[in-house]
Amino acid sequence: MNDRQTISFHVNGELRKVEVGRKTTLLQVLRDELHLTGTKNGCGQGHCGACTVIVDGRAVRSCVYLARRADGKQVETIEGLARDGELHPLQKAFIEHGAIQCGFCTPGMIMAAKALFDVKPKPTREDIYQALERNLCRCTGYTKIIEAILAASGQQPEIGEARPPRAFQAVGHPLPRPDARAKATGEAVFAADLYFEGMLHGKVLRSRYPHARVLRVDTSKARALPGVAAVLTAADVPGARNHGLLRNDWPVLAYDKARYVGDAIALVAAETEEIAEAALELIEVDYEPLPVVASAEAALAADAPLIHEEGNVLKHLTFQRGDVEAAFAQADIVIENEYRTPAGDHSFLEPEASAATVDDQGNVTVYVGSQIPFEDQRQIAASLALPREKVRVVQTKVGGAFGGKEDIHTQIHAALLAQATGRPVKLVFTRQESMIVHPKRHATVIRLKTGATGAGKLLAVQAHIVGDTGAYASLGEPVMTRTATHTGGPYAVPNFKVDCYAVYTNNPPAGAYRGFGVPQATFAAETQMDILAEKLGMSPFELRRINALKVGATTATGQTLRESVGLLECLERVEEEIKAAERTEASPSDASAPSRTRGWGLACAYKNVGLGGGLADSAGAEVELLDDGRAVVRAGAAEVGQGLVGVLAQVVVEELGVNHSKVEVILGDTGQCLDGGPTT
Ligand code: FES
Repeated sequence: MNDRQTISFHVNGELRKVEVGRKTTLLQVLRDELHLTGTKNGCGQGHCGACTVIVDGRAVRSCVYLARRADGKQVETIEGLARDGELHPLQKAFIEHGAIQCGFCTPGMIMAAKALFDVKPKPTREDIYQALERNLCRCTGYTKIIEAILAASGQQPEIGEARPPRAFQAVGHPLPRPDARAKATGEAVFAADLYFEGMLHGKVLRSRYPHARVLRVDTSKARALPGVAAVLTAADVPGARNHGLLRNDWPVLAYDKARYVGDAIALVAAETEEIAEAALELIEVDYEPLPVVASAEAALAADAPLIHEEGNVLKHLTFQRGDVEAAFAQADIVIENEYRTPAGDHSFLEPEASAATVDDQGNVTVYVGSQIPFEDQRQIAASLALPREKVRVVQTKVGGAFGGKEDIHTQIHAALLAQATGRPVKLVFTRQESMIVHPKRHATVIRLKTGATGAGKLLAVQAHIVGDTGAYASLGEPVMTRTATHTGGPYAVPNFKVDCYAVYTNNPPAGAYRGFGVPQATFAAETQMDILAEKLGMSPFELRRINALKVGATTATGQTLRESVGLLECLERVEEEIKAAERTEASPSDASAPSRTRGWGLACAYKNVGLGGGLADSAGAEVELLDDGRAVVRAGAAEVGQGLVGVLAQVVVEELGVNHSKVEVILGDTGQCLDGGPTT
């Protein structure tokens, strides 16, 4: 039975006819057939809202909306909102109110808001909450988005206190991000939005087991499938078999064994994604399953199976200052507790993607949303056995990263397939693949022993930390170093001792994730402080005030702080706010108001600035002034939604006095920019 049919429908007022399959989604038609890539694919399951479009006046999630349902209907996408170059009020408001960061959620947000506006031009906050309840944003925290929607409807959003006067002409002023317009119109290009003439689609076969020897990989049936251009295994990697940011221990394609379910076994490039997926099914792999190490504690057991031949400990970090044993002996109180923190996924809205091309001279260009383009270049070149200058990495827009796009994900695989076929290859993770493959936040077990005087003065902290760094090193060593150095908390601790283990397991690798190991330490240290305060019969504020770091104090690791330590002032202001709130709660002005009970919690944290650990924080940028008055800034750092693109433009406006609209910022292109180091 032929399950294909031709549908005709209007997209942004234009009649379109396309042939679709039984399971083809509207999102696939919009992106792959019509190349209207402003509509994004964040999860493919109707949960994140990045794919929101309007069908016959109703906001729908196009990733789960079958294309054949759109037959005869009117479809509106982000590309149709601006008319004759004039932006829709929602687009303008999103730009002006800073409601756009990485911008991956933005088209879906704007379309969901547009559907609401069409039926209710002056929505209430509650209306907006409901309209956006299935649209996720990982960057903004939603406040700016709500403000923008209210403003677009002509309502004045509450935007807090007036800001104090600025010392500069441009720096510190709320100028729109240079990339905001493209993100609001759907023109901003993320890696998955790229389509090249003759482009193939890449897919990756991943391990069936979390720990197994790979005995045999037979790709003959997959290679024979019509439409398949290449099937690669470890034997086809011409250069370095492993990649890694600090330690090259992560196989490009498994060559001896698989150490987690995200391990890549084989690659396929085919004319369509469907053919590539079908080819994966035809690859035969013989495994010898091995015992699985499921936790860091299990990995440390004397008889634990070895994940890497060198042993299961990636790093044992120790630090000692003063004499903790003597201090515990003198202490009036000693408490000891164990804290456990789970692994976590960054859940950036844009799943990882790369597109790679190769020219007649064998030069490879990889387009990718990455946090460290120059590191990508190094690792791609090594595995493709090319000199570094024959590989160019071009940063596309990055739909959120939060540490999760520092390691290699699709870059080497897409480049290998392009090199093998001589054709452009795009490789895009599904959301499930993204969850399985990329490094997570370290799960930790932290045992803390704290000694103090009866008056609450900290005398000693001793920490024993075990962190699950998963199957490969990633950035496990520096992340767990931060956990180790921060377990004393932002307090003066004269005696401090840490034993910290970063341990391999058969879980997904763990690496950089917002806070870089410090949130785990903070959770343990601050809970310990609350328990100590309770045992001493002391206010948690008072205990922290007694021990807080201030100018002139020395941190647990021995650094004397010489300036800018605001913890005491911060504590004071937070306490004032809480007391004021408690007074209001205790005497509500309206006696008929329903009673409410609120709780409050207190935690303090500090965080190293820059790379730390003695590493150099380097950066480079150049500015070119053109005859037409434009200034072009080139910098090797990455824009991941944090606003670097806007900051650089502001600095140039400030220093050169050029108009903000005349500044163009180019970031993260190894062919054009100076190495800006990691954006981390
Ligand atoms: Fe919303 Fe990045 S701006 S996900």
